[in-house]
Formats: sequence, structure tokens, C-alpha cells
Amino acid sequence: MCGIVGYIGDRIATDILLEGLEKLEYRGYDSAGVAVLNNGQLNVKKCKGRLSVLKEKLNGNKIDGTIGIGHTRWATHGEPSDVNSHPHTDTTGNIAVVHNGIIENYLEIKEELQEKGYNFVSDTDTEVISHLVHSYYEGDLIDAVRKAVSRLEGAYALGVISKENPDKLVAVRKDSPLIVGLGEKENFIASDIPAILKHTRKVYILEDGEMAIVEKDKVSIMKTDGTPVEKEVYVVNWDVEAAEKGGYDHFMLKEIYEQPKAIKDTISPRVTKDGKIKLDDVSLTKEDIDKFNKVYVVACGTAYHAGLISKTLIERYLNIPVVVDIASEFRYGEPLIDENTLMIVVSQSGETADTLAALKLAKEKGARVLAVTNVVGSSISREADDVLYTWAGPEIAVASTKAHTTQLVLLALVSLYMAEKKGTISKEKYDEIIKEIVELPRKAQSILDNTDLIEEITEKIYKNEHVFYIGRGMDYDVSREASLKLKEISYAHSEALPAGELKHGTLALIEDGTPVIATITQSKTYEKALSNIKEVKARGAYVIAVTQEEHKEIEKYVDSVLYIPDVIDELTSVLAVIPLQLLAYYVAVNRGCSIDKPRNLAKSVTVE
Ligand code: F6R
Repeated sequence: MCGIVGYIGDRIATDILLEGLEKLEYRGYDSAGVAVLNNGQLNVKKCKGRLSVLKEKLNGNKIDGTIGIGHTRWATHGEPSDVNSHPHTDTTGNIAVVHNGIIENYLEIKEELQEKGYNFVSDTDTEVISHLVHSYYEGDLIDAVRKAVSRLEGAYALGVISKENPDKLVAVRKDSPLIVGLGEKENFIASDIPAILKHTRKVYILEDGEMAIVEKDKVSIMKTDGTPVEKEVYVVNWDVEAAEKGGYDHFMLKEIYEQPKAIKDTISPRVTKDGKIKLDDVSLTKEDIDKFNKVYVVACGTAYHAGLISKTLIERYLNIPVVVDIASEFRYGEPLIDENTLMIVVSQSGETADTLAALKLAKEKGARVLAVTNVVGSSISREADDVLYTWAGPEIAVASTKAHTTQLVLLALVSLYMAEKKGTISKEKYDEIIKEIVELPRKAQSILDNTDLIEEITEKIYKNEHVFYIGRGMDYDVSREASLKLKEISYAHSEALPAGELKHGTLALIEDGTPVIATITQSKTYEKALSNIKEVKARGAYVIAVTQEEHKEIEKYVDSVLYIPDVIDELTSVLAVIPLQLLAYYVAVNRGCSIDKPRNLAKSVTVE
């Protein structure tokens, strides 16, 4: 997974490429590079390390030129190194390529090219593309790229320039995201919208098998076989501000604070004034819903945790069994799926390779696929039968926050919508939950308005190397998400445990001062979870409870309480996770970690 960007116009390309890459660093950040054409020269500067390293290298040594491509890398084939960084050139130094994706048959092509005398300098799969384009080049770059991609198996978003064609930037997409930004006497390509938002709001979202010939004054889109394609211009309605940090120390904090708005934006267009859910964007009829006898919810990481939480609601209100699975497990399992199965895939980026593969498998087996995603035009959104977007806006921090809570509310709306159509929920219950859903943004805001205690607690626990989260039912699911948040950004070891399981083994881990964070919000299991809290407290744990304001008595049994506003059991997870996101954030800040870009992780996992 990598980020690519390209520019052609009248301005200094390097400046625009570097700015764009900065916005794409969340896609990978182990190396970066640019290639710019200037007066018949192809200049390439690239190096291992974050974009700042490249910028330093370019300082005082800037490449002039008004057409270029850039790349920010997340290593797949070949370790992070200067030579493995993109752009890659052909042996003659005429052609430069940036690539996001994986070329599965690159070894076969490499051998073939080596036999023809091509000399490879890197360990990457991408380098075969630059040599392959060169091998087909007979004066027409477009034709050479077309021939080259016809040989490629795998996933790619490509940007290609050539010394001999200084007025053209060629872009091609298959299974990796790519957009074209449309400016005035200048045009852009990028893996994602924030990279070009400063310059234009008008974009083409390329589909698989499409290529764009990008010139200063025009953009032509065609299939890779040459058939012209008429594209609609998509006008981006995000603020430039929304794609930037906006005064917060980190994107993650900004995104945590954006949750009330993100939740509201996700709910508002879907709940009418008289309290009815309208999902104009899905085509599921009552007949379709009646037909489903099983639901699969499949996703990865934080999105998977949202799926876990939705299981309770769907089973409770639709009376059909729900299997929640991790996409990388699902895709190699033997899921019992047929045309009576509804498959819900959840993905912030809409590009996660495992989730996409799971979706394709479910479709092959005849399931109806509904995608819940945050990215318009993403691969998952295009492959699914129906798509519901979480209107969370761009999420830049690697650790997902606002995407998660918007997934939760959207999945709650979907469950209620289907239950109402199916006739399996009472009007009173439906009305009650909708009323509470509409109140969520205000309640989320009230948590964010009072964070002093969270920071205080953080001071007490941030040095601990082991932190445990416990809960029952949906509270256990919240604990899993909270534990993941802590691990990924603070590097503290943490585990989420079903509270009732402690006595079957894990209680042995509790000793004097061990932090245990107990989410306890469900009325059905409240007393049982309280007993579990007493068990860990008796072994010396430092217990922090997360519960509704109505449960003031809990203060007698724990060391600290993080209250959330009173809310119906079905929706506590949306609120309970917020103080726990903040707790993870402040622990990581205290430990001096790289909050927005934790080590070893990338935002968009587009490879298996
Ligand atoms: C954790 C996190 C990841 C993602 C996972 C799936 O904070 O963000 O666990 O949730 O990689 O990504 P998407 O939702 O883009 O499919």
C-alpha cells in the first residue's frame, strides 16, 4: 500500500507533488520519491524514510519542471531502501513509473526481460513495469503502457511519464484506488482526494481497467483496450480544513473530537423528521429481507469490532443468526453462504484487500452484499450490491476512531430498517431506539467536553506495560476495540477479556496495581459484571469503570469511573468507546509515541 500523485501544468511540479504526498503519507511512509521532467531531462530523487527526509534532500536542490510523479511507499516487495523507493525508471532513464499495488506475475516478467538484456537494480515488483513499458515503446507512450498493463496480473494504480512525451501523464487503475483531479490549465492524479483538494474539487474516479491520458489542458479517459469512456465529474464537498489537522496536536485527537459531527452527518440524512429511517441509497426490498436466513458481517480490525457489536442488534431485532468474521479468516474458510445470505462488509477505507476478497467470495456464492464504507468510489463500494457511506469525512490517523462510531450508528440504522421492513420489531422499540440515536451526537459531545478525569487517570497508568479490558456481551466488544486502540498507538501490551472468563485462567495475570478497565453498561449482565470487577479488585487491580451516569453506586467498588450519559443498552457502545479512545490517546502521548503513524502500521491495507 502506497500513495501516488502526479501533476502537469505551469507550476513547479515538485512543490505540488510534495504537498500531495504529505496528504498521502497515511498510505505508507517508509520511503518517498519524485520524478520530474525538465528540458528533456528526467530527474529522479528518492530515498528511504519519511517524506521529510526527501524534502531535506531536495532543499536547495530543487528540481525544476512542470510535469512529474511522486510516491510514498509502504514496502511489500523489497525492504525499505533508497533503491527500492519509487519512482522506478527503465534502463535508459527515459521512463519513470510510480505504482501502488502488487504485481503477482512480476518474477516471470522479470526473467523474460532479463533474458532480453534488461538490467534490474531493485527488488521491487514495480521495476518490471518501467522496463516492460520501455520494451513496448515505439514512440507512443500510451500504446506502450497499454501493452505493458495487458501483461500484468495483480493490483496496480500507475502513474507513468516519459522524456519523449513531456506533455503527457499516463495513469492506469486496476484494484488500487486512483483519481484524476481537474484544474484550470493543470491536472493531477492521486491515490486519494486529500492529495489534490487544495487545488481542485473536481475529480474523476477511475474504475478498474481504465486509463487516463492527462495533459495540461485536457484529460481523456479510456479503457485499457482503447475504448473511450465518458466520465462524470465528481465534485468533492469536503472542506480543505477537513483534510488537515485544524489546530489539534494530532489527527487522531481531531478525529476523536469530530465524532459528534460525524455521527450527526451519518444519521441526519437517514432519519426523517417523523422518526423513520430512510435508506435511499440501498435497494433492499421487504422480499429481499424476508428471504435472508443468515447474515455474515465481515471486516478487519476496528471495522470488525463494529461488526461484532452489530450482531446483537441484528439477531435481537431480525431474529436471524449473524456470523461475524475476520476477513482474512473468512476468505480461506468454508463459509456456508448462498443466495439467502446477506453479507455486510464494513471498511473505513473501502480498499482493505482481505475484506474485498471476502466480498468477492460471498458474491460468487450468491450472497447479497451490502457495504458500509467511508470512501466514495472505493473498490469495496463498487463491488458491493448496495453501499451505505459513513459520512465521517477523511480519516487520516492510522488508528480509526470516527469511522468506528459512524459504522456503529449506521449498522444500528440498517438493523432497525430491516427489522421494521420485516415486521420483527415493535413500533415502540423502533421509536425508542430512533429517539435515542438522534440524541447520540449531543451525548458524544458532552463526553468530549469533560476530559480532565481521563487525563488524570492516564497519569496513573501510562507506565504500565500490561493493561486489561473486561466486559460482557457488547461491553466485551467495546473492550476489544479499546484494547486495540491502546496497543496500536501506545505499544503497551493489552488484552480484552470476557469478564466471565477471568476465573478460567486469566485472573492469574492480575496483581497489585494492574490496570483493569471494565466497561459495564448492559442491564442484563450488570450485576454479573460487577462481581467480576470485585474479583479483580480483590486481587489488587487498579480498576477504572466505564458506565452510565445512572450507576453512581459503582464508585464504591472501583478506583475511578468514566461516566457516559444515560443511554439505551443497544447504543452504549457508541458512547463508551469515546473515553477509551481518549485514554489510549493520552497514554500514547505520555509514552512519547508516534500517534498518527504508529510503527509497523499503515492506514489502508491494500495487500494481503
Ligand atoms: C485500527 C484500524 C484498523 C482498521 C483495519 C480495517 O485502528 O484502523 O484495524 O480498522 O485495518 O481497515 P478498513 O476499515 O479500512 O477496512
